[in-house]
Amino acid sequence: MSKLALFGGSKAVNRPLPPWPVHDEQDAEGLMQVLRSGKWWLYAYGGGPRPDGTMSDDVSQVERFEREFAAAHFVKHCHAVTSGTCALEIALKAMSVGPGAEVITTGYTFIASSSAILSRCALPVYVDIDADTYNIDPARIEEAITSRTRAIEVVHLGGEICDMDAILGIARRHGLAVIEDAAQATGSILEGNRAAGGIGDVGTYSFQASKVVTAGEGGACATQDDPIAELIWSYRNCGRSKTGVWYEHHRFGHNNRLSEFQGVILRGQLRRLTEQCRTREHNYRLFLRKLAGIPGITGRKLRPDSVQRCLSVIILTFTGEGWDGIHRDAVLEALQAEGVPATLGYGWANYRNPAFLEMPQRLGREAFAFGVDRFPDWQRYVERCPATERACSHRAIFMPHALMLGSEADIQMLADAFAKVYECRSELARLDG
Ligand SMILES: Cc1ncc(COP(=O)(O)O)c(C=O)c1O
Repeated sequence: MSKLALFGGSKAVNRPLPPWPVHDEQDAEGLMQVLRSGKWWLYAYGGGPRPDGTMSDDVSQVERFEREFAAAHFVKHCHAVTSGTCALEIALKAMSVGPGAEVITTGYTFIASSSAILSRCALPVYVDIDADTYNIDPARIEEAITSRTRAIEVVHLGGEICDMDAILGIARRHGLAVIEDAAQATGSILEGNRAAGGIGDVGTYSFQASKVVTAGEGGACATQDDPIAELIWSYRNCGRSKTGVWYEHHRFGHNNRLSEFQGVILRGQLRRLTEQCRTREHNYRLFLRKLAGIPGITGRKLRPDSVQRCLSVIILTFTGEGWDGIHRDAVLEALQAEGVPATLGYGWANYRNPAFLEMPQRLGREAFAFGVDRFPDWQRYVERCPATERACSHRAIFMPHALMLGSEADIQMLADAFAKVYECRSELARLDG
C-alpha cells in the first residue's frame, strides 16, 4: 500500500491544527455587557473624549475600535463599515471615481477588488503582478495609464505591502488617486510608521472570517485626510453630514455601520494582533527553513523594510523543479489528503471570471451606463498578465494564516507532510497521467 494518505496511507497531520478565530473571556464579558446595556447601536452613546484625552464611559465600542485601529495603523481617521467590499466602494466614491473612469489594479486578487470598481460604473484596467512578490508590478503601471485613468487601486496580497514609493511617484506624476486594498494586510507595517492602508489616499480593510482581525464580517476605511474622512463618514451614514440634522442627506450613501457587538469583538481581535503577527512570522520563517531541503517550493519575496507583517495568507511558490514533471494540483491533492489545508488560491484571474467574459452579452445595451460604447475585451489580459496567469495555473500555493499560530511541533508536522509528498512524488504521476 502507498505511504500517501491519498492512496490509503496514514495522514501526516494527525492532530488538530490551530483554530481560528481566537477569542477570550474579556470578549465574552464585553459581549454580555453590550447585550445587557441595551445599547447595541453606535448612536446610542452620547460621550466622547474628555479634555484630558481619556474617553468618557459613554462611548460606543465601534468608536473605540476605530480610534484604537487608527492608532495601530498610524492613520488620522478610521471609519468601520460592514465589509471590505463596501469599504472599497466608499473609498472609490470618496475619490470621485465614477462612470467611464479607468482604475488600474491587478487581476490576482479576490473579486471584490474588481467588482467595487465596476459598481462605480468604472472599468478595471489590469496590470500584471511581479512573479516574486505577487503584488502589482510598478514597472508595468505607466504603460496602462490613459486619459481616462483616475486611480490606482493596489492590493497588498497576503499582507505583503506593495512598492508604495514607486506607485506614489507614478500617481503624483499623473495626478492619480491611490487606493490601498488592505483587506489582507491589517497590521502590516513598514519602517517609518507606514502601515498598510495608511500610505495612499484611502486604505480599506476587511474583517471577514478568514482575515487576521475578524468579527465574522466587517471592514474599515482609513485616511490621513480630513475632507476625505468626512466623505467616508457620510457615505457609510446614508449621506448624512456631521453638522446636519438626522433626516438631512447631502449625498447618496448607505447604512454601512457596524453593530456594538462587532465593535467588542474587533477590539479583542486588535488586542491580540501584534503578538499574533510576531508568532506567525516566527513560525513562517521556521517553516521555510524546514522546507529548505525540498526542491521546487519556495516562499515569496518579502520586503526588507517591514517591521510587522500580518501574513494573512501563507503564499508559497511551486516551481516544479525536482518534482519530475508533477503538476502543482496533484501535489495539492496529496497535501490535502495528508491533512494540510493547502489550496491553489485564485484558480483564475478576476478578468477570467464568467461575470467578465459574459459582460458584453449581458450588459451590452447598458454599456452607456459605464460611459463606454462597448466593454473591453477582457480576454486580452491573458496575454498582458503572464505572471498572473502562471500563478493561477501552476505556481501558487495558499495556506490559511492560522496554521502559523501553532507550536513549533505543529510547524514540524506540516513540514513533514510536504517532505512525505515529495518523497512519494513518483506515485503522484498516476494523478497527472
Ligand atoms: C483583497 C481583498 N479585497 C477585498 C475583499 C473584500 O472583503 P469582504 O469579504 O469583507 O467584503 C477581500 C476579502 O476576501 C480581499 O481579500
